[in-house]
Amino acid sequence: MKCRRCKAPAVIDVRRHNAAFCSDCFLHHCREQVRRAIHEFSMFGPEDRILVAVSGGKDSLALWHLLGALGYSADGLYIGLGIGGYSEESEVRTRAFATEHGLALQVISLPEDHGYDVETAAQRTRRSPCGACGLSKRHLFNRAALDGGYDVVATGHNLDDEAAVLLGNTLRWETDYLARQHPALPAGRGFARKIKPLYRLGEREMAAYCVLEKIDYQVDECPMAAGNRHLGYKETLNELERRSPGSKAAFLFGFLDRMLPLLDPAAHAEAADVHPCTECGEPTTGDVCAFCRLRERAATA
Ligand code: AMP
Ligand code: FES
Ligand code: ZN
Repeated sequence: MKCRRCKAPAVIDVRRHNAAFCSDCFLHHCREQVRRAIHEFSMFGPEDRILVAVSGGKDSLALWHLLGALGYSADGLYIGLGIGGYSEESEVRTRAFATEHGLALQVISLPEDHGYDVETAAQRTRRSPCGACGLSKRHLFNRAALDGGYDVVATGHNLDDEAAVLLGNTLRWETDYLARQHPALPAGRGFARKIKPLYRLGEREMAAYCVLEKIDYQVDECPMAAGNRHLGYKETLNELERRSPGSKAAFLFGFLDRMLPLLDPAAHAEAADVHPCTECGEPTTGDVCAFCRLRERAATA
């Protein structure tokens, strides 16, 4: 197997591109995919301040590294979810990466700063753990961005994540969610812009990137996520991909090119309905936002 770019011996094949790469050319390929993502969706400009949500896993650490490699400066935000040893190890890896690369990192702890953990919140609000976790993270990312004067929040959602979410939303024809499944969701009243610069790179590519760049990441999956719907969608898509390489990318990129432009008005209609939460000021469609309601029911203090 030879590298497509330079003909040196290859270390990884990317079947979707029908190509193999040597180490240097693979890293170049990853940077190019991110550069293209940023450009295609005008994710940010030279003046914009970027906050990267970093979980200590391969995707978000690779994203932080890739932004630096492309010459952008971005600060990190880690949220301690209180999921036992899993959260502790994730935090250690995130802090170590920040220290090693001289990057600024803000750490928020759900138990210490908000008085609850994901498991308690899930039990007390009868949500799934991932539901309670996702709600808390989305709120805290946005809050941290607005309070810190950042223009954009970047997350490490990759091609596999986005294709799985797309499959779930399509199976139920969730048109509101589909309209917001944008790689660069514009800022709205009370919302920072949200971007997903890794949407063109798969899970396996991100793991390889970390290995080749010697990034020490949390390998374990979140113990609360076992058996959730998304993992099932990922398995289904992996089976499709095995039979016909390129299916995942065709599914996601086709949606972004051809369907998303048709859905835009739905996204705007949603944005028009929101006003500030009476407790925290975050945009909501009710009086008190979902995060404040969750925190009130989940906090033990
Ligand atoms: P997940 O929802 O776990 O697939 O994570 C998606 C993205 O959300 C990651 O790539 C990170 O950018 C961000 N993220 C997840 N967990 C955390 C966390 N504990 N702290 C900060 N960012 C996170
Ligand atoms: Fe949120 Fe597992 S990381 S429930
Ligand atoms: Zn609120």
